[in-house]
Amino acid sequence: MNAVNEAPDSGAAAALANRLRKNARHFARWARREDIEAYRLYDRDIPEFPYAIDRYGQWLHVQLFEGKRPVTDDDITAHLMAMSTALEVAPAHIALKVRRRQRGSSQYEKLEDDGPSFTVHERGHRFEVNLKRYLDSGLFLDHRDTRRMVAAETHGKRFLNLFAYTGSFTVYAACAGAASTVTVDMSHTYQDWTARNLVLNGIDDFARHRLVADDVMAWLGAATYRSERFEVVMLDPPSFSNSKRMQDSFDVQRDQAPLLAATLRLLAPGGVLYFSNNRQGFKLDAEAARLAHFEDITARTVPEDFKRRPPHRCWRVTRD
Ligand SMILES: C[S@@+](CC[C@H](N)C(=O)[O-])C[C@H]1O[C@@H](n2cnc3c(N)ncnc32)[C@H](O)[C@@H]1O
Repeated sequence: MNAVNEAPDSGAAAALANRLRKNARHFARWARREDIEAYRLYDRDIPEFPYAIDRYGQWLHVQLFEGKRPVTDDDITAHLMAMSTALEVAPAHIALKVRRRQRGSSQYEKLEDDGPSFTVHERGHRFEVNLKRYLDSGLFLDHRDTRRMVAAETHGKRFLNLFAYTGSFTVYAACAGAASTVTVDMSHTYQDWTARNLVLNGIDDFARHRLVADDVMAWLGAATYRSERFEVVMLDPPSFSNSKRMQDSFDVQRDQAPLLAATLRLLAPGGVLYFSNNRQGFKLDAEAARLAHFEDITARTVPEDFKRRPPHRCWRVTRD
């Protein structure tokens, strides 16, 4: 069966197309009100179609979560056609990432070197994204409301962004009038991306907005020694991390207490730390909980379009 030649709504993909049209009507209106161009449209709403579908302007970022029942390449082709017609997005503007159990190679697993970068707007900010070149897009959408919440506290303050990725929290803080920002991520690729994001938003004073390509644990030790202090800190570590540039592997469940302790040492009196991570089943352990006052604010940081399956948890951490 060649799904590409079928009428758009025929066959098994019709249910997907119908659901996407319904979701699109709701979320397009909502996104206009929220002043955003990038949002989650669909998240495994129908078990037969195990995709998360995010709209980034005129593009779609599609993640297939393959479970026990394999989805064949023919199925995927039909599903992509349904997405293209229902959401009125050109097939060339759909980026598919397969989060697949290893079953040999597939035409869909490759990432493209020449995927184009483009800009999306979010509440008065601009971000460079690239949906085809990397596994992630350049902008995590589930922290959209956290960015606004954190930025609201940064005016005139020193802001620290740890595990910063492409610096979206830094952009918000700098635009909100932070006195200074320090952005730490060990990836040079992402630090360059952060610099471009800052410039896109009219921020080019890189003495006031410092970008540091370093291992967070190593940098925290050195910053404590230099007595650096910050009034607002964002700490959003990966679930796991292992890299040649790090001395040890990192596991947020295992390593939370020393990481939080080292970060809290840099908090100025009366300062606030936002701690978040995406590890499934993450639990704040007793040793970490003793370090400060942790308020679970996840219900306020997960935006409307992620409520079906909240990807992160988030705490507001204070010491006084
Ligand atoms: C989950 S992302 C952070 C998301 C980011 N806060 C945001 O909202 O866009 C993880 C980032 O941590 C960085 N990273 C991983 N291990 C690191 C380490 N030990 N030191 C510094 N950065 C690290 C990666 O390069 C990646 O950019």
